[in-house]
Amino acid sequence: MVEILHVEICQKIDSTLLQQDIKDAVKAELCLLEEVILNSLLLGTFFSNEIVKTHVESILCSLNNEKSRTKVKGTNIQLYVYRLVQEEAAIETMQDDNGELPVAANCILPSKEFHGLWENLYYDSGVKENLLDFVETIAVFSDRLVDPNVINCNRVVLLHGPPGTGKTSLCKALAQKITIRLGDRYSHGELVEINSHSLFSKWFSESGKLVMKLFSEIKILLQNPKALVCVLIDEVESLAHARKACINGTEPSDSIRVVNALLTQLDQLKRYPNVLILTTSNVTEAIDLAFVDRADIKQFIGFPTDLAIYKIYASCLKELMRTGIVDQDTIHDMSYLKMLGYEETSETKHSLMLCELSRQSVGLSGRVLRKIPFLAHALYLHTRTTTVPRFLRAMHLAIEKQKEEEFN
Ligand SMILES: Nc1ncnc2c1ncn2[C@@H]1O[C@H](COP(=O)(O)OP(=O)(O)OP(=O)(O)O)[C@@H](O)[C@H]1O
Ligand SMILES: [Mg+2]
Repeated sequence: MVEILHVEICQKIDSTLLQQDIKDAVKAELCLLEEVILNSLLLGTFFSNEIVKTHVESILCSLNNEKSRTKVKGTNIQLYVYRLVQEEAAIETMQDDNGELPVAANCILPSKEFHGLWENLYYDSGVKENLLDFVETIAVFSDRLVDPNVINCNRVVLLHGPPGTGKTSLCKALAQKITIRLGDRYSHGELVEINSHSLFSKWFSESGKLVMKLFSEIKILLQNPKALVCVLIDEVESLAHARKACINGTEPSDSIRVVNALLTQLDQLKRYPNVLILTTSNVTEAIDLAFVDRADIKQFIGFPTDLAIYKIYASCLKELMRTGIVDQDTIHDMSYLKMLGYEETSETKHSLMLCELSRQSVGLSGRVLRKIPFLAHALYLHTRTTTVPRFLRAMHLAIEKQKEEEFN
């Protein structure tokens, strides 16, 4: 089977060139290359073609697997052109005794804020690729008007797993990615992030009105068939908890109506062909909510393995090199080290040290891992800039300290 090379082209915000002209120019440039680097942003200025140089911000190539580079020849090149929306999310708030409580955030996709987020999340065993395939299938099915009574497809995704494993980030990144990939069907995406936790944390009396207002706004967005509306409900288990608290009488009785209203509204949304409901949860046992029960995709997101940890650390080190905090050095791909049989040479030494640190870090969440370089610098380095081996030793100490804190 011929592999599809997905090429996402970020057009400069002030460029008015036709998308087709940009696609043609980029395709011609890519065909000149023997190989391309995958899953890493290539700047437009890297290319020699004038159109690409002046109109393209960056290009991202990827295959539906985790290779780090590929030959261009022999692949089926699929191009997507998009421009990043610069505006930040608009926050919807509710008044309470302590001031304003954020209950929803609305942002237009593809947004500058989430640029590169997808590429910076690392999982093993094709988690991201599977999610994309699933969501693309959902889109194809609604495109072709497949009858949901015949083939079950509810447009609901649930990511569940322990805290700090990137579930919320992955939902946002998925919404951004799918907006770019489905650019020929939708003119833009809308990400509506419902903060159910603060919506039901207290003060139910205003929640009812707010829920209705929120959903009438979402339905207005859905009226536009050219908009892909992604509704993100973080910590969806708080809805189930709120309902249980009502039933047990620990919450005012009218609040159950609010929770149920929200669930009914969500159930209704699923009928729109251009909606995608993304949910996350920290509890791994079954959540007592009908609409999550029927999620098309239930994906467990766990702690990263040493392989994914290596990629997270490598990305952190690259950032430290880019900013001049750590001296330039080469950190090899794990696949390269494997090919050499993990043999230690002066060239692979530092990468192998990083391998060791990655193994040592198994059991820490992505959130903690991304904090380790900061802690290493703050606690164990007393110079502003340093070398890779020095920095790795400081990371080793920071990991030890972190593990001690977490597991004792
Ligand atoms: N697998 C991963 N690869 C790269 N970065 C990760 C990974 N997992 C988590 N992170 C980073 O950790 C931070 C926290 O992620 P996020 O808030 O999405 O996690 P979460 O699973 O939603 O957590 P919670 O359950 O506490 O809400 C983000 O900055 C994210 O980039
Ligand atoms: Mg979260």
